[in-house]
Amino acid sequence: KAAPIHERYEESFTIGAAVEPHQLEGTSGKMLKRHYNSIVAENVMKPINIQPEEGKFNFKEADKIVNFARKNNMDVRFHTLIWHSQVPEWFFLDKQGKEMVKETDPKKREQNKKLLLKRVETHVKTIVKRYKHDVKSWDVVNEVIDDYAPNSRGLRESAWYQITGTDYIKVAFETAKKFATKDAKLYINDYNTEVEKKRDFLYNLVKEQLKQGTPIDGVGHQAHIQLGWPTLKQMEDSFNLFTSLGLDNQVTELDVSLYGWPPRPAYPTYAQIPYEEFKKQAARYNDIFELYERLGDQISNVTFWGIADNHTWLDDRAREYNNGVGKDAPFVFNPDYKLKPAYWSIMD
Ligand code: G3I
Repeated sequence: KAAPIHERYEESFTIGAAVEPHQLEGTSGKMLKRHYNSIVAENVMKPINIQPEEGKFNFKEADKIVNFARKNNMDVRFHTLIWHSQVPEWFFLDKQGKEMVKETDPKKREQNKKLLLKRVETHVKTIVKRYKHDVKSWDVVNEVIDDYAPNSRGLRESAWYQITGTDYIKVAFETAKKFATKDAKLYINDYNTEVEKKRDFLYNLVKEQLKQGTPIDGVGHQAHIQLGWPTLKQMEDSFNLFTSLGLDNQVTELDVSLYGWPPRPAYPTYAQIPYEEFKKQAARYNDIFELYERLGDQISNVTFWGIADNHTWLDDRAREYNNGVGKDAPFVFNPDYKLKPAYWSIMD
């Protein structure tokens, strides 16, 4: 039987996987119990699933994951309290059903802002109260930086931002802090945190928020990476930068795509992926886990955005750019949960 990944990294950080509730059963369930000591929901804890209508919370699917974690002694990462994507429309409609972003009257805009911040508070409070004894790490806000944003600070111009400025971030963190347990940690999560321009936008925002007293404990680095991108130096620089602010780092959505961006061309099927690619991937996994381990004091969790190559969001991307046929293979287990070269390289 293959040695558990989490035991290998026991001294450095916990090892997690993102899951859909159906993956708690069968072979994927067994893999979860054996190799990981932390778990996160791939989708079911996002705003659209958890509060689809105002005041109507749906915890059924989220509960399954939390109960599984409890039973198997795993940490839970919560993903995500606030996000611009997978968020229901009602958040941004005023009491008359008008889209808040279209409001031009300054007085009404002020009222809308208040209403939206109240909704943020209620959303965060209700969820945090329910899961506070289970969740160790909270993604409080996700992807609030957009390095292509028209403003000079790289703030994503989502509806949240257009209606409240950066106040939604502050209120979300403050509310989470108020209701979470003392030892829980609050994260600002984003992708491409290794890319200098985006990283610096994030750094400036976090620094400014910390100065205002916003209770941010750490940065979540999604780490949707590729065989040759970004560089190890970019990764290390980013961890160090946020550590210099006194913050923790977590690697929250790790996967190593075989492709560039966009993923074109992609191998049509798994069987067509040459073994050579898996060897390259293993070398890449070796390098990044060597880095993570070396920076073990600065990183408290490393989470894969899935378990095995039979279930990954990257397949949707590969198909999207290759006329519906394309397969990626980002993890250390193959579609049948067998060990890939990358497994051996991270265990070495
Ligand atoms: O649930 C419906 C199903 O009823 C329907 O039949 C089906 C048809 O397309 O769609 C299903 O919803 C999909 C959902 O995943 C659940 O499978 C959505 O279309 C699909 O867009 C959604 O994708 C998720 C994506 O976030 C949404 O933006 C991916 O699974 C999930 O891996 C991905 O995760 C994000 C992180 O939250 C944030 N960072 C980036 C990461 C990758 O995009």
